[in-house]
Amino acid sequence: MTRPLVSLREILAPAEADGYAVGAFIMCNAETADAIMAAAQQEKSPVIVMLGPKEEPVLGLQNTVQIVSTLAHNYDIPVCLHLDHSRDPAQVQAALEAGFPSVMVDASSRPDEENAQITRRIVELARKTGATVEAEIGFVGFPEMTTEADNTNSNPAESRLTQPAAAEHFVRVTGIDALAVSIGTAHGRNPGRPELDFQRLAEIERRVEVPLVLHGATGRAPDQIRRAIQLGIRKVNVATDLARVFADTMAEALQEGQGFFWHADAIVQVKQRWVALTRRWIEVLGSKCQIVDRGG
Ligand code: 13P
Repeated sequence: MTRPLVSLREILAPAEADGYAVGAFIMCNAETADAIMAAAQQEKSPVIVMLGPKEEPVLGLQNTVQIVSTLAHNYDIPVCLHLDHSRDPAQVQAALEAGFPSVMVDASSRPDEENAQITRRIVELARKTGATVEAEIGFVGFPEMTTEADNTNSNPAESRLTQPAAAEHFVRVTGIDALAVSIGTAHGRNPGRPELDFQRLAEIERRVEVPLVLHGATGRAPDQIRRAIQLGIRKVNVATDLARVFADTMAEALQEGQGFFWHADAIVQVKQRWVALTRRWIEVLGSKCQIVDRGG
């Protein structure tokens, strides 16, 4: 059976109903997208393949849609292709036009009202294509980022925790499909606060109807991730963990070859390690065997 790419709405509705989270894993090329989907197929899990602004120049938006949908036809699981963290509304619009079934517009470094206005405009555009929109309120920091992310005055290294009342208002006025929350994680190798703010998460979950998203999963203990899922997280973003495996594999291959490596061998290694790592994440998130369990 083949399936087209699905939106966040379709992939997260069963997760909401059954209390698990779907992993959103960063791809950068056809090989890594294929590894993510192969892992999900082996675990009988739905999966979200994400392309971030850093990865976008590798293939471009249109090629990414074509390649991921072609590859997805080889697998019998729901696959969502999602644009991650785009701060540029023109890029988000281009992704929607290219056929992305899901996008994140990230104006979270701006004042809340401006964030809401920018997000609302993207939601209106997305409704025309049937795509879903994720946005963030509060700010999940990028401690390893060395340059300003955009032309706002906020410091990209520092997180700002999500205020539950502001989250409720933001979801109501924007009409988004999923909300990224800041509860103590940070992007990159730095794990942020040692403990996530579970009380804050529970309060946000009480006030907000749409599925909640956890960014900055790399470096968090599985127990903390599982607790966050019990309290309402339905999408978990993973990037640095995978990027590190890519870099380590290349470095090892270079060392073993004493300065030279045969690229195809190294890429095959990367794929095998990505499959193994993605499978481990899927296990933590509880989405393993959800496809079989739902009779699909
Ligand atoms: P990590 O890089 O910490 O895994 O975070 C990924 C992320 O949130 C991408 O949006």
